[in-house]
Amino acid sequence: MSLHGKRVLLIVSGGIAAYKALELIRLLRGAGCGVTCVLSRSAAQFVTPLSVQALSESKVYTDLFSLTDESEMGHIQLSRAADLLVVAPASADLLARMAAGLADDLAATVLLATDKPVLVAPAMNVRMWQHPATVAAIATLVARGVQVVGPDEGPMACNEFGPGRLAEPPAILAAITARLAQAPGPLAGRHALVTSGPTHEPIDPVRYLANRSSGRQGHAIAAALAALGARVTLVSGPVTLPDPAGVAVRRVETAQQMLAACQAALPADIAVCAAAVADWRVATAASGKIKKSPGAPPLALELVANPDILATLAAAGPDRPRLVVGFAAETDALADNAAAKRTRKGCDWIVANDVSPQTGIMGGEENAVHLITATGTEDWPRLPKAEVAHRLAARIAAALA
Ligand code: CTP
Repeated sequence: MSLHGKRVLLIVSGGIAAYKALELIRLLRGAGCGVTCVLSRSAAQFVTPLSVQALSESKVYTDLFSLTDESEMGHIQLSRAADLLVVAPASADLLARMAAGLADDLAATVLLATDKPVLVAPAMNVRMWQHPATVAAIATLVARGVQVVGPDEGPMACNEFGPGRLAEPPAILAAITARLAQAPGPLAGRHALVTSGPTHEPIDPVRYLANRSSGRQGHAIAAALAALGARVTLVSGPVTLPDPAGVAVRRVETAQQMLAACQAALPADIAVCAAAVADWRVATAASGKIKKSPGAPPLALELVANPDILATLAAAGPDRPRLVVGFAAETDALADNAAAKRTRKGCDWIVANDVSPQTGIMGGEENAVHLITATGTEDWPRLPKAEVAHRLAARIAAALA
């Protein structure tokens, strides 16, 4: 896609990956995008302002206190003259300063002063990426609407292996293009809460009860609602899927944690409960690993019912989202069971799907659903889960219009 007429402010922070910023500038310029660059103090140790200036064909900003720059273009204007701010590579240090709201150099000041969307592409040592301080900084930034691209997993300059490598420049370009293409959608200003994935209910510290849900459908719905402009909170059980772009993700393990995270996310205009929540949990999970011993009687687990998150949200009184959508996974008498579930759980719509093993839907790429509302049932054809998500998001937008 052409980015003609668009302008990106690219903030390059320090790190060995800073050289890849040059490739990103080249790709952006090739797509017709205007690029203005800010180099952090440490970035200038890895790439020279001269090479950045030559590739971006634009003045490079490095010093917060340069009077010439302030008279030409102050840091406030610098942050507002762009359509999008991109931080690539984003070091652990700059991410922490962004999360804390510091303004101690030009890069941080520009990021604090902006009213434009921000996309960050982190790059750092794997242990720095996994450190609770960085995890917390990323969670804070995502909750504020900052989009995160990468990092990738692989061998690192420091001879370690793991997540922390800067996403490849073409992937960053794709994320920038997608972000710049977003016009304010029909769900702009709405908050959508989506649950996704299975829950894990501990038996002991090493074992748990789970189910085969992949989270694909719930994650696709979160992405589709975000694509229509909604602010989306995705409460997800354990999945191996990447976080959908532009969505605030809350990771949980158990049904009780999922309910608490959902309640903390209220108020919301829309709730879509696509998670395959475990109906039961072990009454008292063992604190140590349960050992087997020869001749011992069969092990009995006492199960107690988990809270019903969908029913709880549908009965949330003044906090009830205007539109509450549930899923019904059925193997028999699909329409009747799903319609009964809609009434029993107090939700507005039920998306019913046949999860008989022969359909291959549970954990698969496609879904064949029936949308059950107060006025009737619509049968949708078998579609990729992403397409089901887009149709559902469009129906939700129409219902709230
Ligand atoms: N759900 C939930 N919390 C639970 C159980 C289910 O929020 N503890 C939600 C699911 O996310 C889904 C809907 O309820 O939107 C239906 O779940 P499903 O497992 O199909 O139905 P059940 O309530 O388990 O009913 P059944 O016993 O008929 O399977």
